[in-house]
Amino acid sequence: WPGTAERLDGELTVGGIGVSELADRYGTPLFVLDEAEFRSRAGEYRDAFGSGGADVYYAGKALLTKAVARWVREEGLKLDVCSGGELAVALAADFPPERIGMHGNNKSEEELARALDAGVGRIVLDSFDEIERLERLAAERGSVPDVLVRVTTGVEAHTHEFVATAHDDQKFGLALSTGAAAEAVRRVSAAENLSLVGLHSHIGSQIFDTAGFEVAAARVTRFLAETHRELGVTLPELNLGGGLGIAYVSSDTPLDPKTIAHSLLDIVQRECDTHGIPVPRLGVEPGRAIAGPSGITVYRVGTVKDVEGLRTYVSVDGGMSDNIRTALYGSEYTCLLASRNGEGTEPVLARLVGKHCESGDIVVPDLYLPRDVRAGDLVAVAATGAYCHSMASNYNNLPRPAVVAVRSGEARALVRRETEEDLLRRDVG
Ligand code: LLP
Repeated sequence: WPGTAERLDGELTVGGIGVSELADRYGTPLFVLDEAEFRSRAGEYRDAFGSGGADVYYAGKALLTKAVARWVREEGLKLDVCSGGELAVALAADFPPERIGMHGNNKSEEELARALDAGVGRIVLDSFDEIERLERLAAERGSVPDVLVRVTTGVEAHTHEFVATAHDDQKFGLALSTGAAAEAVRRVSAAENLSLVGLHSHIGSQIFDTAGFEVAAARVTRFLAETHRELGVTLPELNLGGGLGIAYVSSDTPLDPKTIAHSLLDIVQRECDTHGIPVPRLGVEPGRAIAGPSGITVYRVGTVKDVEGLRTYVSVDGGMSDNIRTALYGSEYTCLLASRNGEGTEPVLARLVGKHCESGDIVVPDLYLPRDVRAGDLVAVAATGAYCHSMASNYNNLPRPAVVAVRSGEARALVRRETEEDLLRRDVG
């Protein structure tokens, strides 16, 4: 069980509260966030990187609510947002705009204008169109925003391995290999209303190996040296993005924040020494590694169906609308019977499925549950704090679950459960 919960008297408890009490108070499905766990993970990244003079931006796309933004601020992290909506949540939580970095491969004029008007600290430029657009909007306002150029290094990282690809065949950023990145640096440096402060690189997600990060860091640092030598531009910041993996199942082996911080700071320092350029201030953007293990999802079992000789289908009251990751990425999860321990009962091979109208609506394809699992039981899925609430949908017109925070035996709602009235209110035809 990689989650943030323990069994007390047979029942799973999170932050000192039993799942049955949480389910009774807030209904199911329910996203439960362990505030202390979130804060302590944020603090670990802040300390590991901060001690080396690096900035940690929490990636809000993993999970962002006003309370989460306040925790991030209180723990001394910066915040990465990638849409006007995420920016709105951060500003509504009084997150200091100068500590916000803004991403996106297709930020609208309106989003860029809001970022400028709010005074966000860094805007990460992703394309030539955007360089022009932001330059014009900044000139109209007489402002000179600090910007980074997002580059692609040809390093494509996947879980345990990394593949150095020759082509940068995806939508984000400007390629080092084609000269697009150098051209972008030239244009941004020449733009009167843009202040180029650095480069950005993000290689992927759910990574367990430092190698991909190291190759990317080395390539970007070499490029920094080239811009220094050939364009006479010295860039003081280098953001290496997010992507640090977490344990969803027991075979996952996450990197320790100190190990990754040490290895990145070290490689950038060495490359800079080799090329004789000043060492830039590093930045990272962990999202999943902070939010993921801090959350669990509690579901109530509705029906149980035995398929003779194969498996038992255990249907819960949510599914792909609150966790699309299994259907979308084939992600793995760990699930437990939560309202009682079922000890002494023989296990049965089960499949945890949702209530949506398609057979691909699977939360956990294969797991063992006590044979007597039945309607009314609560089950909990671990490590759902990241990319579950934030990717939730209303498929089949299901209202989205509430998000509650638990801490020292107290629970409070951060996001209330959606109602059918909420959904109908938008249906204005
Ligand atoms: N920075 C940038 C520029 C990113 O694109 C991302 C993730 C992050 C930081 C944070 O990455 P993290 O540390 O959370 O891995 N929906 C997918 C993940 C997509 C991530 C996209 N970008 C999932 O559920 O696995």
